[in-house]
Amino acid sequence: MNKNLLACLLMLACSLLDLRTSIGQDATPNQKLVNFGRDIAPLLKERCMQCHEGEKASNGFLISDRAALLAFVEPGNAAGSSLWNDYLNQPSKLKLKDSLVMPPDGPLAASELALLKVWIDEGADWPADASLVATNAEPSETGSISFPSRLIRAIGYFHPAVVHFPIVLFTLSGVAAFLSYFLGTRCRSAAFQCLAMASVSSIVAVIMGWSFADLQGYPAWTNLLSENATENERSFFMHRWVGTSTAILGVVLVVLGLLERRYKSNALGQAWRLGSIGMMFLIGLVGHQGGELVYGDIFEKAYNQISK
Ligand code: HEC
Repeated sequence: MNKNLLACLLMLACSLLDLRTSIGQDATPNQKLVNFGRDIAPLLKERCMQCHEGEKASNGFLISDRAALLAFVEPGNAAGSSLWNDYLNQPSKLKLKDSLVMPPDGPLAASELALLKVWIDEGADWPADASLVATNAEPSETGSISFPSRLIRAIGYFHPAVVHFPIVLFTLSGVAAFLSYFLGTRCRSAAFQCLAMASVSSIVAVIMGWSFADLQGYPAWTNLLSENATENERSFFMHRWVGTSTAILGVVLVVLGLLERRYKSNALGQAWRLGSIGMMFLIGLVGHQGGELVYGDIFEKAYNQISK
């Protein structure tokens, strides 16, 4: 027991000593707080690369081009650097029309801004051999991905077009299911047929959506929503999962419909028809979320037009 206590005290003393020496080291000029490879490169890759890489880079500005980025920086002086003043430390474009803030939908999180500011203030070190592209494991730029994966990526662009099929079909199915309570079997079979087609088309739309997300540089599906996620990241996260759930629920309802036929169960018949009516609202929500991702907050914009 005593021995343990002694060991603990020793360890504590050692770590305090350690702390003191590292604080002392921080004061010396070559021990910087921010390290390009560890702190800045991943940040630029995650937050800037989706728009500033490759042939279609916004304004032709490549974030991986050391000279191009450093042209916006006055090393050692963040407050005097265009990158900081014009592009980082700015209110969002949504709030201020002529703001140049990057990314365009709002400033970076405070912690990310702090890293970039300290990095510039400490001299904007970018070791000549540290490349953003080489460390980026994305196979997309190498041109060596197989044809099926390229095909999957290509169909992603049709997501915004194809989603209209499940939207219309789920809506028709819901309306027919509702009418089937008053008009009987004919509407009932129409409701089921629309539901089946809606489910198939929603699976296609979801697959395309996942591919589209990949193309747009959204985070992988394993990523949970972080606390300081931007509004755009939040709506994207919701859209991805509500959309996927819609397709799954659609399939479940189709299965219930098939079981109803088989077992002639009235309860199952109620379940899929009421479910179809519910799906109208769910698909409306998913469609609206998707619309916002493409067009921004359309209600707010419409309201602004009226209140001018
Ligand atoms: C969603 C896309 C997008 C993201 C993400 C993005 N940018 Fe941009 N960036 C643009 C667009 C579009 C322009 C063109 C200027 C404009 O219309 O505001 C631009 C222009 C710039 C410019 C001016 C380039 C020039 O030569 O005129 C700089 C610098 C810049 N961005 C830095 C960044 C940095 C740093 C990040 C990451 C923190 C970033 N951008 C993230 C879309 C983006």
